[in-house]
Amino acid sequence: MKMFHMAAIQARLGVGLIGLALLATASCRHDTTQVADANVPCEPGVVYFKNEILPIFQGNCAYAGCHGQGSAKDFVKLDDYASIIRSGIKPGKPDGSKIYEAIIETNPDDVMPPPPAKLTTAQIDLIRRWIEQGALNNGCKSCDTLSVTFSGNVKPMIDNACGSCHSPSQRLDLSTWQAVKTAAESGKLMGALEHRPGFLPMPQGTPKWSDCELGKVRTWIRDGMPNN
Ligand code: HEC
Repeated sequence: MKMFHMAAIQARLGVGLIGLALLATASCRHDTTQVADANVPCEPGVVYFKNEILPIFQGNCAYAGCHGQGSAKDFVKLDDYASIIRSGIKPGKPDGSKIYEAIIETNPDDVMPPPPAKLTTAQIDLIRRWIEQGALNNGCKSCDTLSVTFSGNVKPMIDNACGSCHSPSQRLDLSTWQAVKTAAESGKLMGALEHRPGFLPMPQGTPKWSDCELGKVRTWIRDGMPNN
């Protein structure tokens, strides 16, 4: 009996500590996302308000005559972060959040959005996870490594990060398509960017490019280095 009691206390303490740790990371995240805005790369597993949640509300709840601008049915306006939170979101607690309860409601008279409109299970799951993660006003820059062009992606990145040291007057010119193509064909471009042994790590003096940036260059090379 006594053993059992101890275990129960330990378990409770454990849960409490995990809770505390979660709270600490949640509030920490909150601070950074307030400043960092939508320019951080998307992290897997994190639900982002601006990228995923706001579009669901805008597409399903903020249309004219419903909860959008100028209508505010039942005084609930759902077209920006502040009003969505005000309408009854409890960060960390989907089951205590009025909005979440309304979207999972099974009674057709109370469910939101009203029938026949209905959020998909995937959308409901996203909203639930977003609330569980603290209902932050966060956003991220997703990385599109599939549709890459030289002029739209590769050249601007190289001009920014490499241009000062690799202009036409320097030994290794990277200012034109032909020059970048030549560096890519020799294997030096990816060798230097990926910090492979035997190559000078580039960009010199600043951190290695992100997987997102490297992925874009790899796609461009794989596509045959088009001048597009
Ligand atoms: C602060 C200056 C500086 C910046 C910024 C810089 N480089 Fe370099 N890079 C150098 C120097 C110096 C060398 C070695 C001398 C040379 O080959 O011109 C070099 C060499 C290289 C080489 C040849 C590597 C080898 O091992 O043979 C490649 C490829 C290269 N840079 C690519 C880049 C790319 C791509 C960027 C931008 C992401 C970049 N560099 C940014 C200074 C710089």
